[in-house]
Amino acid sequence: MNILIIGGAGFIGCHLCEGLLREHAVVCLDNLSTGSRENIKQLLSNSRFYFIREDITSDLRAIKARLSNAEIQRGFDWVLNLASPASPAAYAKMPVETMLTGSAGTYNALELARAYNAGFLFTSTSEVYGDPEINPQHEGYFGNVNPIGARSVYDEAKRFSEALIMAYHRKFRLKTRIVRLFNTFGSRMASDDGRVVPTFITQALANKPITVFGSGKQTRSLCYVSDTVEGICAAITAEDKDEINYPINVGSEEELSIVELAKKIIKLSSSSSRIEFKDLPEDDPKVRRPDITRARKLLGWEPKVNVDEGLVKTIEWFRSKCSQ
Ligand SMILES: NC(=O)c1ccc[n+]([C@@H]2O[C@H](COP(=O)([O-])OP(=O)(O)OC[C@H]3O[C@@H](n4cnc5c(N)ncnc54)[C@H](O)[C@@H]3O)[C@@H](O)[C@H]2O)c1
Repeated sequence: MNILIIGGAGFIGCHLCEGLLREHAVVCLDNLSTGSRENIKQLLSNSRFYFIREDITSDLRAIKARLSNAEIQRGFDWVLNLASPASPAAYAKMPVETMLTGSAGTYNALELARAYNAGFLFTSTSEVYGDPEINPQHEGYFGNVNPIGARSVYDEAKRFSEALIMAYHRKFRLKTRIVRLFNTFGSRMASDDGRVVPTFITQALANKPITVFGSGKQTRSLCYVSDTVEGICAAITAEDKDEINYPINVGSEEELSIVELAKKIIKLSSSSSRIEFKDLPEDDPKVRRPDITRARKLLGWEPKVNVDEGLVKTIEWFRSKCSQ
């Protein structure tokens, strides 16, 4: 297959490009706002890989012109749209860009899928559930999102994208996949992007205090990146039934508190760090755990790597990066 990955130079995107390149040709389109060339540098020599630096919110004709370059004019079977700043620090710094990417950008990506007669996959997020009143969260839950809070630029852009995608599915019968990813971690996360795993590991490896927000009793379920990538791949290869066009949670059911996570990272990295408590940011969700019944049924998918194994690999990667 020929696959267009928008946002393919980011953390999850580069692992996805790498995985799909084993069997398919991949064009990665990315504006490098939070991603990097470093993430995809090992792929650039692969003749089935092509990189275009472009913003998905740019003029659609200009994007199409760049994609019609002779080397990649075969068209696409799938358009996978991962583009969006994803860490709270990144979307706080780029609030307008985040909303535009999750609205005009999603519209452009959908129009590309329609023009190429391709399927369309979108990486949505557990943040569409906001600060949930139920645990675990199943896809039928509408969520509890503050529409004007500090995190709203991300949460509402994702919710708007989902609504737009379903409109394309209903109006144009576009083949759609919406995977609602829960927290994912692993190698090639940016150490300074403010997400909990890279922040704690970076602090632990430097034996500096681990900064826990609030009481640390809030929970997260952390999925190792190879499992998330397998879940995304399963969504484009699984049997095409009507139900699969609607949102599917992809995440780990292993729920742990932030304090437990901090202690695990201290132990697994043999660090002498202590835990330091700071004020909880606005609208920080108190619990997070996916119900993955639909993923099991429709994708035949469930995570394989447990948190400890994933953390050991991730700590190793950050350690090797520090020593470079
Ligand atoms: N990592 C997670 O835990 C997680 C959880 C839920 C959902 N997601 C979603 O998965 C996707 C990938 O997340 P990630 O963790 O790899 O984030 P990331 O920031 O590392 O990757 C996002 C990529 O999109 C690119 N991008 C952003 N705006 C763009 C634009 N306008 N045009 C073109 N490219 C653009 C960035 O440069 C970057 O390479 C995002 O859509 C995110 O919302 C991630």
